[in-house]
Amino acid sequence: MYTYVEMNRVNFSIVFGVNIVLLLFVGSAFTNPTKTEELNIEDFENYNNEINVEDEEADAKNRNAVNSPLQRWPSNILLYRISTDYNKDEVDNVHAALQVFNESTCLVFKQYDPRIHGNSKHIYYKKSPNMCGTKVGFNPLSPMGPHDIVLNPYCLSERGVIQHETLHVLGLYHEQSRPDRNKYVQIEYSNIPQQYWSQFIAYPEMYTTTYNVKYDYESLMHYSQFAFAKDSTKPSMRARNGTMVIERKMGQIVGPSEGDLTKIRLMYKCN
Ligand SMILES: *[C@@H]1O[C@H](CO)[C@@H](O)[C@H](O)[C@H]1NC(C)=O
Ligand SMILES: *[C@@H]1O[C@H](CO)[C@@H](O)[C@H](O)[C@H]1NC(C)=O
Ligand SMILES: [Zn+2]
Repeated sequence: MYTYVEMNRVNFSIVFGVNIVLLLFVGSAFTNPTKTEELNIEDFENYNNEINVEDEEADAKNRNAVNSPLQRWPSNILLYRISTDYNKDEVDNVHAALQVFNESTCLVFKQYDPRIHGNSKHIYYKKSPNMCGTKVGFNPLSPMGPHDIVLNPYCLSERGVIQHETLHVLGLYHEQSRPDRNKYVQIEYSNIPQQYWSQFIAYPEMYTTTYNVKYDYESLMHYSQFAFAKDSTKPSMRARNGTMVIERKMGQIVGPSEGDLTKIRLMYKCN
């Protein structure tokens, strides 16, 4: 089992009068519901330390997830820039990751060229020794310059993770944060350390929308069923079907699901 941890700070203090810090986590990837040890959780423990989950305000800040049309990118042409400190494989991975959106949505990811685009708003893929994360949605308060996606070499080696972060930038939150998620998942809080409970908050309907897309356990934006589990042999989330609660696989890092792409198409009014 392995877990990606990403940090995400969203500051809408001017627009909404509150300071929101989102600490967003990417779930783990599994080929089957039992734990596999392709990579070790300890490889990521330092990332946990990077995130200030001990911040006693983090939980309260997390409750305020905001979504508005202003947070959608204003054009279907998205400029992107790749840091010069990415190696060739990493650069190739970003291009390949973004190609999926080119092919499966009406979005066009075009490389940013400072001579042509000047200070235009663009998505900037940057490198970090340890962090992976970004802010969710377009920031209407900062219509020019870069919108950073920070990735460490490990995250950069997985196209799915690059796509996950890019979907955050386009405006998607984690699937299990949907306002209607309690119909589909049961959070096993007893198996989650309290400092991570804020990562399992469902966002209220007034701030987020599901676009009436079916709940998607296979979403690239879904945590794994073992995310943050104290006892990693037991799930931290179970699937719910009416009153029935079952164990099932959730999340993946292969690529955007059809549900993820459908949401992007609806959001950006494709066709
Ligand atoms: C997406 O398509 C545009 C135009 O068709 C092209 O210029 C661009 O390089 C493509 N982007 C990626 C990431 O392949
Ligand atoms: C929920 O249960 C019903 C009735 O047993 C079944 O038809 C349906 O496919 C189940 N849904 C899921 C998501 O498993
Ligand atoms: Zn995430």
